[in-house]
Amino acid sequence: MTVSIMNGFPPSSETPAETFRAAMRTVLQPTALLSCETGEGEIVACVVNTVFPVSAEVPSVGVSLDVNSRTCRQVLDTGTFWISFFTSDDRQYMYEVAGASTTVRSEVAGLPDSAGQPIMSNSATAFKCVIARQLTAWDHSLVIGQVTGIRVGETACLSL
Ligand SMILES: Cc1cc2nc3c(=O)[nH]c(=O)nc-3n(C[C@H](O)[C@H](O)[C@H](O)COP(=O)(O)O)c2cc1C
Repeated sequence: MTVSIMNGFPPSSETPAETFRAAMRTVLQPTALLSCETGEGEIVACVVNTVFPVSAEVPSVGVSLDVNSRTCRQVLDTGTFWISFFTSDDRQYMYEVAGASTTVRSEVAGLPDSAGQPIMSNSATAFKCVIARQLTAWDHSLVIGQVTGIRVGETACLSL
């Protein structure tokens, strides 16, 4: 399927993937750290901005994960993951975490928290989720997690 690109926005010399990324960068989405624990007790994590609420009746969230990422493999392997939302004050911290290599990213994010959970201590809001549905879409896995734990922080949840 071809993607038609409107003249001049963005430059039509870009590939459809580049154009799509450029377009999505202009769309405001909450940014979060998705984390999980391996069978060996190691915490793996990556920054995601595809988290969306699915249902409030059955508290649940969805996320799209690159199937080639370490975090996605671990999430599918263990079936449990945590989502910690960055706040609007966390921009610099978010860039540091996002830019950290896969083996040190959870450490840079300060995980685990003081209670031993793989969530960010200063997160606005954090969810513990268990995979309820999973669908593979091209190079991504759409994971829907049922929320089994909620920690509401004291700061506003504005990951702008
Ligand atoms: C702002 C931002 C949003 C991102 N959103 C996602 C996302 O929704 N899904 C995803 O798989 N990767 C996303 N990424 C890329 C991952 O954070 C990460 O680079 C990649 O998954 C490598 O992770 P790994 O160490 O688990 O292999 C995002 C990166 C940034 C900086």
